[in-house]
Amino acid sequence: MKRAVVEAPANIALVKYWGKRNEELNLPLNDSLSMTLDLTVKTEVTLSREFDRDEVYVNQRRLSDEEVKEYAGRVMRSIRKVAGDQGLRAVVRSVSTFPESAGLASSAAGMAALVWACNEALGLGLDRKEISKLAREGSGSACRSIFGGFVLWKKGTRNDGSDSYCEELFPPSHWDLVDVIGLVSDSKKKISSREGMKRVRTAPTLDSRLEFVNRTLPKMIESIANRDESSFYELVMRHSNSMHSVIMDSWPPTWYLNDISIKVMEIIYAYGKAAYTFDAGPNPHVITSSSRADEIENLLRDAGARRVIVSKISQGPRTLEVG
Ligand code: PMV
Repeated sequence: MKRAVVEAPANIALVKYWGKRNEELNLPLNDSLSMTLDLTVKTEVTLSREFDRDEVYVNQRRLSDEEVKEYAGRVMRSIRKVAGDQGLRAVVRSVSTFPESAGLASSAAGMAALVWACNEALGLGLDRKEISKLAREGSGSACRSIFGGFVLWKKGTRNDGSDSYCEELFPPSHWDLVDVIGLVSDSKKKISSREGMKRVRTAPTLDSRLEFVNRTLPKMIESIANRDESSFYELVMRHSNSMHSVIMDSWPPTWYLNDISIKVMEIIYAYGKAAYTFDAGPNPHVITSSSRADEIENLLRDAGARRVIVSKISQGPRTLEVG
């Protein structure tokens, strides 16, 4: 029996991933860029040929075989291949420090932790680039959680996914920013990102979004390199708007923002020294310098957030125990 316990972080996308060119391998339509957060998932993986199936527990709840197949199952298939052992099965126990499925990227942290733990437990010796490819197969955005700081996921052009992986652009210490997250809803999202991304092909504005991403990604990287707050904040907000526009432009009707989200967009834009961004959920992530975290927290509470979490920029996964 092989075992490892690891911790992996969530990430918040600044340039969003929305839409796939290959659903099986989670190959994206565009490059994306994220900041790694200090919100983590702790995962224990035990691997053995004696187990008769892959079993996954998330916050003590055992996932159905169907749920396992959708996410962890894909990763395990690839791990078995890399390990050269088709008989290997895993028992995975994952505990998150933040609400699941409410747009806080807990699935990204969970998939990153699973691959990292398997690599450690089985002594596969994969480097971060290879680990990020395997994490991507479980959940696209998970590949960015394999690195710390500011992370770029290059979409790649090959059909086998061999050039679709991540790299760290700047370390966590590069810029003293925080993500102030307002919890405006704990409920599970109605439309999974997997389903939502299928629908984006119906959006007439998709091509202009892809053109916008290609044109402005270098500008976003430059604004981070120069710690240029005003262009960075503008680009972050526009990239959030860009993703949610093609989501609203999709059919059947799809959206993730609620009335508090919209209110926060107005308040943060007016505030000036911060940027809002939203993943596939209504909870606002407000990026700002750490000295303004308290002020933003108060603004979010006034706007209706029930809880506020402040996250610094963090490092990638950590191994806690092996064996
Ligand atoms: O990797 P998934 O299927 O959880 O997709 C997440 C996509 C967004 O969070 C909405 C955007 C992103 O780039 O993280």
